[in-house]
Amino acid sequence: MSDHTRRSTGWQLEQNAPEAYERYLVPPIFASWADRLVETGDIREGDRVLDVGCGTGIVARRVATSVGTSGDVVGLDTNQGMLAVAAETAGDNQHTPEWRQGDAEALPFDDEDFDVVCSQQSVQFFDDPTAALEEMQRVLTPGGHVALSVWRPLEYHPAYVVLAEALEHHVGANAGKMMRSPFPDWDTRDLRTLVQDAGFDDVLVTIEVGSVRYPSVEEFVRREVASSPLAEPIAAVGRTVRNELVKAVEEELHAYSDDHGVVSPMESYVITADRPQ
Ligand SMILES: C[S@@+](CC[C@H](N)C(=O)[O-])C[C@H]1O[C@@H](n2cnc3c(N)ncnc32)[C@H](O)[C@@H]1O
Repeated sequence: MSDHTRRSTGWQLEQNAPEAYERYLVPPIFASWADRLVETGDIREGDRVLDVGCGTGIVARRVATSVGTSGDVVGLDTNQGMLAVAAETAGDNQHTPEWRQGDAEALPFDDEDFDVVCSQQSVQFFDDPTAALEEMQRVLTPGGHVALSVWRPLEYHPAYVVLAEALEHHVGANAGKMMRSPFPDWDTRDLRTLVQDAGFDDVLVTIEVGSVRYPSVEEFVRREVASSPLAEPIAAVGRTVRNELVKAVEEELHAYSDDHGVVSPMESYVITADRPQ
């Protein structure tokens, strides 16, 4: 049996990161944050909504319920693998989102095509976030609005601080860097400036606090790795290093472990802003 498929004390490496993302990360993390984003985004029946960096589609699916059959939802992502899982997971909405491959920095839509643009935990991955926000503004109707979320810096996510440091130590600098990448060092002022510079008005930045829970530290490490670009580098290091990695994370997360597994706070900025009339 190859090292890629062998079980090592319970954690089996997954080769299909988009499927693992939908299975392991969407239910405990992204689904509840999607509900918050849709609520903050004030999405109404009949709205035409774009979800930029839709991944496997959790926000677009939630939006589809809010806009009803008189509205429209488009989910856009660069990654064909994520979009394929989104299409398979379309859910039981009366109205299924449309899935489009494309780049946030060059949106394949006409001017003033949408009432609302959403983007959950994606802006931090765009090469040029200002260009992407300008594009969001271009495709919005005058008076339309954006609803965005971006994780707060790494220090507000204790379990991920531990995992990033352990990856750095046991796997290498790049693995640590990958684990840090979802958590940019942006404060409320940076975000306000970013959104205002793209031409939006009435920028409102809110800090929201949540948590994530896993049945064990081993499952936390296994699921996070399987659902991310870390799957390959971790597969390459072998079982001994993986076991050491889990042990190190278990020791450091002792204070967050209880009879149900492990829990960690997570904090996100949620930003809304209007396109001027
Ligand atoms: C952490 S995932 C978030 C996915 C989804 N919004 C969710 O809440 O589950 C970030 C997503 O941004 C997408 N992405 C990164 N750069 C992009 C770009 N320039 N244009 C469109 N999507 C992009 C990635 O492919 C990935 O699916």
